Amino acid sequence: MGKVHVFDHPLIQHKLSILRDKATSVKEFRELISEIAMLMCYEATRDLPLEDISVETPVAMAKCRRIAGKKLAVVPILRAGLGMVDGMVSMMPNVKVGHVGLYRDPATLDPVKYYFKMPPDIAERDVIVVDPMLATGGSASAAITFIKETGAAHIKLMSIIGAPEGVERMQADHPDVDIYVAALDDHLNDHGYIVPGLGDAGDRIFGTK
Ligand code: PRP
Ligand code: URA
Repeated sequence: MGKVHVFDHPLIQHKLSILRDKATSVKEFRELISEIAMLMCYEATRDLPLEDISVETPVAMAKCRRIAGKKLAVVPILRAGLGMVDGMVSMMPNVKVGHVGLYRDPATLDPVKYYFKMPPDIAERDVIVVDPMLATGGSASAAITFIKETGAAHIKLMSIIGAPEGVERMQADHPDVDIYVAALDDHLNDHGYIVPGLGDAGDRIFGTK
């Protein structure tokens, strides 16, 4: 079963408290989503393999370690996942970025695909799927199913807030995928929103409400 990692780092928790506040402006919301993604990226890439190298400093040779040529891809779920891309790219400047466009049918809450574009060698890459909200888990589960159809086998999911329903759905549909969140909230309301959550992440990032 996929592990659930909840990041309790003080910087992440502090920023999340401002993100949740309904009075936070679009500008600040966007900046915070990006900053939290950056901090979560730092934690979620702890298991990247390292290799030993020698580097010549101005003084002597130094034994160093660097990431062992690992190929990574970040895949935001549109729209709201886009808000996390900058933070990830600032930590991993050469990372390739794929996109999955999904919206939730308002009546059924089922995800509908409207865009899908991956790097050509996605099957060889470790993939981090990003979406600020893991609510019913329908979007993340569907996105990961589509990504697996390309041959990608090593996938992580990074969300800022998760609901227990979404975690359960992910663990049932994709037990091989570890989940990284900054908070696990209480439940979903009748409209599929996370309680207490932060509202509609896409609308708050793009100022569409
Ligand atoms: C939000 C969010 C997730 C999805 C989570 O997107 O960004 O993708 O809902 O809900 P789920 O776990 O129940 O599937 P939304 O459908 O509002 O689209 P948007 O990102 O375009 O605003
Ligand atoms: N999508 C959001 O943007 N917010 C929620 O609370 C649930 C789904």
